[in-house]
Amino acid sequence: MARRSLTQGSKVGILGMGYYVPPKILRNSDLEKMVDTSNEWITTRTGIKQRRIAEPDVSTSLLGYRAAKKALRDAGITAREIDLIIVATTTQDMFFPSTACIIQQKLRAKGAAAFDIAAACCGFIFALNTAYHYVLAGTYQRVLVVAAEVLSKVVDWTDRNTCVLFGDGAGACVVGKVRTGGILSSYMASDGTWKDLLEIPAGGSRMPASHLTVDERLHYIKMRGNEVFKLAVKMMAEAGNKAVALAGIECRDIDCVIPHQANYRIINATASRLGIDLKKVYMNVNKYGNMSSASTVVALTEAVKKGRIRKGDRVLLVAFGSGLVWSSMVLEWSR
Ligand code: UT7
Repeated sequence: MARRSLTQGSKVGILGMGYYVPPKILRNSDLEKMVDTSNEWITTRTGIKQRRIAEPDVSTSLLGYRAAKKALRDAGITAREIDLIIVATTTQDMFFPSTACIIQQKLRAKGAAAFDIAAACCGFIFALNTAYHYVLAGTYQRVLVVAAEVLSKVVDWTDRNTCVLFGDGAGACVVGKVRTGGILSSYMASDGTWKDLLEIPAGGSRMPASHLTVDERLHYIKMRGNEVFKLAVKMMAEAGNKAVALAGIECRDIDCVIPHQANYRIINATASRLGIDLKKVYMNVNKYGNMSSASTVVALTEAVKKGRIRKGDRVLLVAFGSGLVWSSMVLEWSR
């Protein structure tokens, strides 16, 4: 098992946030016409009612760019004032250049360094944690963190086990020094023992694209959902407890939980294990499905916009994903 990364205390926080989801809505009733499923099954097993789907000519960088523009506006800064761009994604525009460089070009953020992070559904928390350390170390002053996905292009629309679960979207935030509050603790963990539970088998150097890989539909998401489910509950609870302990507080001190939005049953079970009232847990899985790295940042931005998070509140971010990876963070809201 990889060594865990643990950090504590500082005055680095979020200066501005934004999200963008494509306008096209795919409802459960639409899926009933595509595969052998039902609205009843999807709703009771996952909580998902609908998801957003990008148009065929829209790539991850465009969603990320639109979210980033909103985050910059919210932070009151220009793209030229960004020192570093970190993009978390599992659906990068192409192998290279990085999606971060493509977003940099779209933003005209000349002067920024830019790179991608691959941590699946934990992507936003891993990227935010990375940004936090760069600002804390004084290497960079303002870091743009983007989490963006067009999962609809890697979902097998003939596989009912997976196609009902995922959606497209993006969120972004600007990270910098804050006067009060900010990131109180962060935690990241990985265990490649479970690397085969959730994967896109082909298209990389292990199994390059060929007629065979296309015929066998190996460029799409494959998941052993039930096994992932059980581990997810365990890991989300472990991660939540870890970040709370590192912040030197108790779970009862948390005002709002922003969990990864894969399945409302995973979220309910995690809250119950943490002993946190569901009323404190923000959920939007019904509207967007699982947007991988983008889920937590979109949920966080929505929760702030709706007034569910206010200045001084303690917020717990918690996620898990392919790898397997799991992660968490406690922030004291400083805006
Ligand atoms: O971001 C991280 C990524 N992934 C996740 O978080 C997903 C974690 N896993 C899950 O959320 C759940 O395991 C699922 C929602 C994927 C599945 O729910 P489950 O309660 O674990 O169901 P299951 O896999 O045990 O399957 C139960 C039955 C099976 O039929 P049989 O074998 O019992 O006859 C499936 O074939 O449900 C069937 N099934 C469906 N039926 C209707 C699977 N998908 C569907 C579907 N519609 N879409």
